[in-house]
Amino acid sequence: MGILCANRIKIFNEKKSKLWIENNIYTFVALIKKNYMSIHNEDSRRVTTQRLLEMKNRGEKISMLTAYDFTMGRIVDQGGIDIILVGDSASNVMCGNTTTLPITLDQMIFLAKSVVRGVKRAMVVVDMPFGSYQGNSKEALSSAIRIMKETHGDCLKLEGGEEILESVKRILSAGIPVMGHLGLMPQSINKYGSYAVRAKEDMEAEKLVRDAHLLEEAGCFAIVLEKIPASLAQRVASELSIPVIGIGAGAGVDGQVLVLHDMIGLTQNFSPRFLRRYANLQGIMNEAIEHYVADVKSGDFPNAKEQY
Ligand code: KIV
Repeated sequence: MGILCANRIKIFNEKKSKLWIENNIYTFVALIKKNYMSIHNEDSRRVTTQRLLEMKNRGEKISMLTAYDFTMGRIVDQGGIDIILVGDSASNVMCGNTTTLPITLDQMIFLAKSVVRGVKRAMVVVDMPFGSYQGNSKEALSSAIRIMKETHGDCLKLEGGEEILESVKRILSAGIPVMGHLGLMPQSINKYGSYAVRAKEDMEAEKLVRDAHLLEEAGCFAIVLEKIPASLAQRVASELSIPVIGIGAGAGVDGQVLVLHDMIGLTQNFSPRFLRRYANLQGIMNEAIEHYVADVKSGDFPNAKEQY
């Protein structure tokens, strides 16, 4: 009788502790899920210009990375990024050119089309390449329409302020959202002569602020500021009501953008101060390729299970 009672108590206690563990596992999983969702963007709604504005207004930082092909677009989108830029930096990263100038409208369209196919949530911004919008606003509009029609991207990015304002306005009037780009504008590298920090002097800084206001007044939904003093970028972000995304422009802006291949360590000979490398994918690839070559040479690959 005593043994039976002790057994029942034992079974009861075991059931109780099982229940306790199950309940706590559920709570633990829910907690992890909640934290994961707040870090990684689990909101599956498409990112729009309106949602970016809301993010600025509630102080939520905007994340932006480049991508130039379907696979990278898919991976970056799955990582929860807000904006994917099909940047004309593809000219350097994908084509091996020393500047962004040689990439053509046809090449940008080919890349952007591939990226768009891989993206479900992020906003896809396509860079208008050098020579496709500087001539006159009519030409700019027809380049813009080609990009939108053929790539199904969401918006366009153009480098410049007052000088390209007419083109910006004409593109906007066709219902195409435009992101501005001020500060270091790589398409003007031949004018600058180097990729050094821009707008350190008062005159250039004041022109940049004026240009930022002009772009906002024209109707741009956001502006990228590249490689300028952090205090100037912060001033622009606080004066404008549209989001300001920085690259090498400090922390006082509404979001950050980096070139994907730089931040995952696929490019190695480019190390500006603003670049944080989050991985060394070139190292991983080198190792994998050397391993594969060795396996092929030694006859280790393929083995019996890897053939038909
Ligand atoms: O082309 C590009 O990658 C860019 C970013 C540097 C903003 O314009």
